Amino acid sequence: MAKITYVEHDGREHVVEVRNGLSVMEGAIRNNVPGIDADCGGACACATCHVYVDEAWIGETGSASPMEESMLDFAEGVQPNSRLSCQIRVSDALDGLVVRLPESQH
Ligand code: FES
Repeated sequence: MAKITYVEHDGREHVVEVRNGLSVMEGAIRNNVPGIDADCGGACACATCHVYVDEAWIGETGSASPMEESMLDFAEGVQPNSRLSCQIRVSDALDGLVVRLPESQH
């Protein structure tokens, strides 16, 4: 279980508990966090689950796979800390994770 803070582009925060094994995207969808559409359902094929990982958490979330990297090319406003949240698996190690949502997805 990990407590994850999703920060909307306007600063509104949503703090939710997400079960281990789910993705950060699924945590948002199940808790009605706005800003993550996840059109492809987590298949790494839409880039509508784009988030910015808080700098302090980049080490824990790891880096994007080559497939994820190529899908991120379709996202707007990509930054070095951009990830597709369906590709980040929740575990106890991510307890306290903070991700920010891009303005293009509100
Ligand atoms: Fe489609 Fe993440 S939900 S790429």
